Amino acid sequence: MQKLKIHGGHPLKGDVRISGAKNAALPILAASLLTADPLVLTNVPQLNDIGTMLKLLAEMGVKSERTTDAASLRADNLTNLVASYDLVKTMRASILVLGPLLARFGEARVSLPGGCAIGARPVDLHIKGLEAMGATITIEAGYIQANAKKLKGARIYMETVTVTGTENLLMAACLAEGTTTLENSACEPEVVDLAECLIKMGANIRGHGTDVITVEGVASLHGASHSIMPDRIETGTFLAAVAAMGTVGGDVRITHAQPRSLDAVIEKLRASGAAIASTEHEIHISMNKRPNAISLRTAPYPAFPTDMQAQFIALDCIASGTSAVTETIFENRFMHVQELVRLGAKIDIEGNTAIVHGMNKLTGTSVMATDLRASACLVIAGLVAEGETIIDRIYHLDRGYDHIEQKLTAIGAKIERIN
Ligand code: UD1
Repeated sequence: MQKLKIHGGHPLKGDVRISGAKNAALPILAASLLTADPLVLTNVPQLNDIGTMLKLLAEMGVKSERTTDAASLRADNLTNLVASYDLVKTMRASILVLGPLLARFGEARVSLPGGCAIGARPVDLHIKGLEAMGATITIEAGYIQANAKKLKGARIYMETVTVTGTENLLMAACLAEGTTTLENSACEPEVVDLAECLIKMGANIRGHGTDVITVEGVASLHGASHSIMPDRIETGTFLAAVAAMGTVGGDVRITHAQPRSLDAVIEKLRASGAAIASTEHEIHISMNKRPNAISLRTAPYPAFPTDMQAQFIALDCIASGTSAVTETIFENRFMHVQELVRLGAKIDIEGNTAIVHGMNKLTGTSVMATDLRASACLVIAGLVAEGETIIDRIYHLDRGYDHIEQKLTAIGAKIERIN
C-alpha cells in the first residue's frame, strides 16, 4: 500500500493551480444520464472518485472519452439501470445516479451506500423527495428499487440541509411533469454549478444558491458544454497549509480558484494572522508568525464547511492559545484527532467539540489516514512537524486531491510517495 513521506519544516513558496471541484464534477457527470446527447466537460479533476463515477456510468452503458482534464459523455443507449454495491460502497456519491435514471427511464436500482467512516449518512431524504414526486420505492436486499411512469412536480421540504439530496432531487425535477419546489435546499456552490450546467442542457431552474429552488419540468434535455467550478476545499486546504507554517513561513499564490466561495474560510485564516489578498480567480496568502488559535463551528454553506474542519484542527494544534472546534454535520468526524495526538498534539473531545490546546511544535511519526479530509489534515500536520511523518492509507487522499504531492513539491514541501 502506498504511503506519503513528509519531511516537515520547509517554507511553502510559489504558485499552486487549483483543479476542478470533485463535489461539482460528480453530480454533473451523473447529469449526463438525463440526455441522449453528448455532455462535454472541462476542468475535470484527475481523481479516483471521478474514475469511479465514470466506471459506474460505463456499467450502465454511458460512453465516455477522457483526456487529461476533460471528459465527454453520451448516454444514448443505456443497457443497465443498476448501480451495484461494489461501486457504491467505494463512493457514496454514486447515489447521484438515482434521480436522473428514474426521471429519464422510469426505473432505477441503486445499492444503499451503507455506513461510512464519518457517520451513518442516511439517504432517507433522497427517497422521500422522489416519493413525493410520485415514485414507488422499495428497499430490497440492500438495494433501492425505484419506479415511476412519469415523475410529477411536487413541493418538497427537506428537514436537514443535504447537498447530494438537493442535487438528486434537482436533477429528477428537470424531467418531471410540472413545477417542483425544493425547500431548505443546500446553497453550496457545487449545487449552483450543477444547476448552471442543467440550465445549459435546457432545464428551467430558478433560485439555485438560495434555500428555495424552483424547477419547471421540461420534456427532454439536450447536450451542452460546461467547465467545472474550481475546488474550494482543495483551495482551502492549501490556504490552511500555508497559515499552519507559522514562523517557518509561507508565501503562495493560488490560481484558477474561486475566492468568493471561501468567505468563511478566508475570514478564519485572517483571524489566524495570515495576510490574504484576492482577485476574482486568485488568492495570495502569506504567513510569517505563529498562528492564533481559531475556534469554529461547521454548518451548511455559507457557514464554515465540514470538509475544512480537519485541516483547521491541524492548524490549531500548533497555534498560540486554545480553540474549540464544533462539528455539527457529521457525528463521527474527529478520527484525525487520535492521529494528531500521535504527532504530539493536545486535544480533548467533548461531545461534538474538539478542544485543541496549541503546542509549540509537533513531532513527526507514523500516522494513518482514516478518510479524505482527515488525510489532508495529516499532510498539513506533517508539513509543520519536526522530522519525518509517514502517512499510511493515502488512497483516501487520492479520492479527492488532484496530484497533491506534485503541487506541494512545486511550492517547496519535502514530500514523496513510497510503497
Ligand atoms: C456532501 C459532500 C461532502 C460534504 C457534505 C456536507 C458530495 C459528493 N459530498 O456529502 O463532501 O462533507 O456534503 O457538506 O458533495 N442526511 C440525512 N438524510 C439524507 C441525507 C443527509 O439525514 O437523506 C444528513 C447527513 O447524515 C448529514 C447531513 O444530512 O448529517 C448532511 O449530509 P449531506 O449534505 O447529505 O452530505 P453528502 O451530500 O453526502
